[in-house]
Amino acid sequence: MDLTNRDSFGSKFGVIAAAAGSAIGLGNIWRFPYVLGANGGGAFLLIYLIFVVVIGIPVMMSEFVIGRSAQRNPYGAFRILAPGRPWYLVGIMGVAAAFMILAFYAAVAGWTMEYLYQSVVNGFSGKSAEEMSTMFDTFRSGSARPVIWFLVFMVMTSCIVMAGIQKGIEKYTKVLMPVLLLLLIALSIRSLTLPGAGEGLVFLFKPDFSKITGKVVLEALGQAFFSLSIGMGTLITYGSYIQKKERLGNTAVSVSLTDTFIAVLAGVAIFPAVFAFSIDPASGEDLVFKTLPVIFQQMPGGYFFSLIFFLLLAVAALTSTISVLEVVVANFTEEFQFGRRKATVLAALAISVLGIFASGSWSWFKELDIFGFSVFELLDHTSANYMLPLGGFFIVVFVGWFMGKPKVSGELSSNGMFPVRYYPLFLFIVRFIAPIAIALVFLNSLGLF
Ligand code: PFF
Repeated sequence: MDLTNRDSFGSKFGVIAAAAGSAIGLGNIWRFPYVLGANGGGAFLLIYLIFVVVIGIPVMMSEFVIGRSAQRNPYGAFRILAPGRPWYLVGIMGVAAAFMILAFYAAVAGWTMEYLYQSVVNGFSGKSAEEMSTMFDTFRSGSARPVIWFLVFMVMTSCIVMAGIQKGIEKYTKVLMPVLLLLLIALSIRSLTLPGAGEGLVFLFKPDFSKITGKVVLEALGQAFFSLSIGMGTLITYGSYIQKKERLGNTAVSVSLTDTFIAVLAGVAIFPAVFAFSIDPASGEDLVFKTLPVIFQQMPGGYFFSLIFFLLLAVAALTSTISVLEVVVANFTEEFQFGRRKATVLAALAISVLGIFASGSWSWFKELDIFGFSVFELLDHTSANYMLPLGGFFIVVFVGWFMGKPKVSGELSSNGMFPVRYYPLFLFIVRFIAPIAIALVFLNSLGLF
């Protein structure tokens, strides 16, 4: 297949914007606070930060190296770089993870759309924290709305992916993400000035080491992978669109630090309010939806803040869902020679079936119980906590032990164009530290020591 006129990102900022667009999303603003809240707060944050630096950044660099070197989707990349070897299975697992993630992620994006709608019609007006909580439960359990919003979101994602990389992704991210950041800062200021806010900060930043268990460590690892969009080949796919003259190391560091900053900022916006309004920080995946509208109610100009915030959150989710769908579509177009349109429609239809079960987990499919999990929980936990770290394990092992130093250092330095003094450290991490750390977290979560 002719790969000479493959799409590529137009500029340095375009690359960072697109990769950051994938990384920044509901994972930062919805999943991070809920998982942190359910896992004891500050100690989780500390472990999370360590994982981002020690494992996350090296995995992200490794994905970029694989993708740009092979110029393919994850499955095809492993086939080209390791012909006749079973490494392509990592690519297949990535496609499977993309299916699962999109199914529940777009369901949550659907909740965001409902909240955007409620902001427009002023549906939060005058409601207490308790009423806000009931409102969310009623929405999620009572009707076809969550499923309809999920489908709306899938259609939007598919339309953008169909239009292609360059036009589809760069344009939106560049302008809108900085605005989201400003809004989060405004929200944090309001949240921090609520009476009783201090307790939330203590919860978020003061580690209580007695809270650390095998499960907490596993969840922190899973959240780091999920938030950085690593472990399933999304950034292998994006790496294949990065031009040869870009520095992969710098890009990975900027994207990871930005992503982490936004997650912590979301924590600063949410936890003070959680404590001020006596909401249970461990309530689960409904935490953010029950907290944010209450903060908006307490802000001057809350109507507009809430409107713009949920709009931007939906956009942030969209720049992530397109990156997930792109993994599947790149695979279908390059491996089965499907046209882009056909690949997108087929992938979106298949994912939608799974997603209807996920978004109906509180209504139509409430009784459906798989090993004690709802469909939504099963997709969420299995993909983030097991599939992504497992994928990351194989990705670093591949780059560290099998790809060959000349290729790896050639990619990182753009064939000698840039110095890569960090290379020995990078190699040590991808060969030893990252794979051993991931293995230990898995064994520990199984209670093996
Ligand atoms: N990183 C995204 C977020 O934090 O919202 C979610 C995500 C996108 C996960 C792409 C995995 C992925 F491959």
